[in-house]
Amino acid sequence: MSDTRDAALKEIATLNDSAAQPQSQNGAERFHYPSQEVVEHANVTAYMKAKGFNAFDELYAWSIQNPQEFWSDQAKELEWFEPWEEVLDESTAPFYKWFVGAKTNIVHNAIDRHARTWRRNKLALIWEGEDGSHRTYSYHTLDREVSKIASVLKSMGVQKGDIVTIYLPRIPELMLCMLACAKIGAAHSVVYGGFSVEALADRMDDAKSKLLITADGGFMRNKVIELKKIADEAMARTPTIQSCIVVKRTGHDVNMESGRDLWLHDLMALPIASPNCPTEPMDAEDMLFILYTSGTTGRPKGVVHTHGGYMVGAYTTLKFVFDIKEEDRWWCAADPGWITGHSYIVYSPLLAGATSFMYEGAPNYPYPDRWWQLVSRHAISILYTAPTAIRGLMRFGEAWPNRHDLSNLRLLGSVGEPINPEAWRWYHHVIGKDRCPIMDTWWQTETGHFMITPTPVTPLKPGSATRPFFGIEVDVVHEDGSSCDANEDGLLVIKRPWPGMMRTILNDPERYVSTYWDKEPVNMYTVGDSARKDEDGYIWVIGRLDDVIKVSGYRLGTAEVESALVSHQSVAEAAAIGLPHDIKGSAIHAFVILREGFEGSPKLEEELRAHVGHELGPIARPDAINFVSTLPKTRSGKIMRRVLKAQALGQDVGDISTLES
Ligand code: PRX
Repeated sequence: MSDTRDAALKEIATLNDSAAQPQSQNGAERFHYPSQEVVEHANVTAYMKAKGFNAFDELYAWSIQNPQEFWSDQAKELEWFEPWEEVLDESTAPFYKWFVGAKTNIVHNAIDRHARTWRRNKLALIWEGEDGSHRTYSYHTLDREVSKIASVLKSMGVQKGDIVTIYLPRIPELMLCMLACAKIGAAHSVVYGGFSVEALADRMDDAKSKLLITADGGFMRNKVIELKKIADEAMARTPTIQSCIVVKRTGHDVNMESGRDLWLHDLMALPIASPNCPTEPMDAEDMLFILYTSGTTGRPKGVVHTHGGYMVGAYTTLKFVFDIKEEDRWWCAADPGWITGHSYIVYSPLLAGATSFMYEGAPNYPYPDRWWQLVSRHAISILYTAPTAIRGLMRFGEAWPNRHDLSNLRLLGSVGEPINPEAWRWYHHVIGKDRCPIMDTWWQTETGHFMITPTPVTPLKPGSATRPFFGIEVDVVHEDGSSCDANEDGLLVIKRPWPGMMRTILNDPERYVSTYWDKEPVNMYTVGDSARKDEDGYIWVIGRLDDVIKVSGYRLGTAEVESALVSHQSVAEAAAIGLPHDIKGSAIHAFVILREGFEGSPKLEEELRAHVGHELGPIARPDAINFVSTLPKTRSGKIMRRVLKAQALGQDVGDISTLES
């Protein structure tokens, strides 16, 4: 063993042996240390050794002093049609550019380069339907299928720069269609299959999509979700859509409008579906996708990501954080319709040449051990999910996971919201058998990839996403931009650009600047989360500072729920807040002022909940609706949701000097 690795292992061993293990600011938590075996075999240890460093902290410090060297090291592991002239261009900040002048295509690195090596016969994707059916795709098959869809799209007139909206359930076609768009240089805008009419129509409208790809339906708990019906209603509200490709999943009868709607399987049977479709060379800064995310006010924002920087960030973070190896079976249990799925189901596993697993249905269908059965049946070695799923499965008890062989697992992951220590311990002990480190990854739709996260060699503290990734510098600051003291609550900020960062908000660059870059301290990216940093430099994310509610890890804006409510004929005004919920993390509670002539009743409450479900989607259905005659507002007319929340929780309402009298 080399001196470098020896020294690193010694450092970890010393930490392990330390009698006075540091305590977190939360009191009782001690560090959880990775085993020597994990440390020894970690990709990050190999990189540390290659760079000639003795300790992880030294490597991190170097990456912060030389971020461009760190990121270009990583970029060189991927293929480029033309090299970059500059790693980072800051001259147009905050519209940063990465890998300036380079040409590539993420699909070239995700598929093409594997399909010409021995990996052509390696499984890229294993999919299991809720009904137990299976489909598998080798890199070769993936290449053929993606090429065929790409050829079809091209012959239907889809061009470089167009935005195709995709509204599909969790089936392989979702991934295939995303990759097909990217291959020919069109951007995709995936709308989560759990969203509904208004959400889909708004997103198609903003993106000015001419083509929608949807399905006849999807399965969830053996019920059919009628995606085509929702899509029909949404298309009726969207003037730009000209064609709609429909994937057959359920086989149920659906309306097919002649001249607009086409079955994918019919198109794939035509000669236009050629398996030979060239991958379009793209500028590193060309748009790869947009993904809408909820913000404080107004409509969701179309977050723009690019081919070059996003590719490098997604690839690097998966490799180091989840330590992907050739023989792994990786399962990111998110939905591809959210950023977690974009980055860690679709793109990064393929960039790494890994085998990914995808499951269509609900975690507890038909029984609460479905997930554990899947882990065992498919020999999953790394599982990445959200605290809400862990809490949901935890309530069924240990007996369910204990019936299954989970011994292939070697790493676990968490994302979406802070993980409560109780869920962390259950996950660690019952699922990971106390030997699988948990990678609690903090990031956002906007950041594109992990930002604050452990690697397998990082000593862990349950509930903390630990420390920033290589090349990433974060701080917790006061409103005026000055750094907070250890353990003091403040605003989380990112102090320098990173490759996978969003480039702008589609059609609204001013909003990009004002939302993320306009606050003190200038030139720092404002995340929108409150957090604290403890005496060991570990970050503890507390939650959103704005009016974003995290329901089961999904991000929803109060503004969206409120606008869905006021679109009902009975509602004059509405306010939505998030209140704590044992499993979902937060649940939506709404306060509604009715129009003249309407009266609050349990029936109307149910009707309004269903209306929000219909317009936005089942995840946005409020748990409770309260009929009120006034809403607390500032003198300038802004609803004070903070007051509603404090009242609902029986807390002190705080400073209400700006309250309208
Ligand atoms: O509040 C943070 C929370 O999720 C927000 C980002 O949401 P979204 O864009 O939907 O992306 C979710 C998946 C990447 C953040 O601002 N969040 C995400 N991960 C964590 C988290 N909060 C605490 N710990 C995390 N690991």
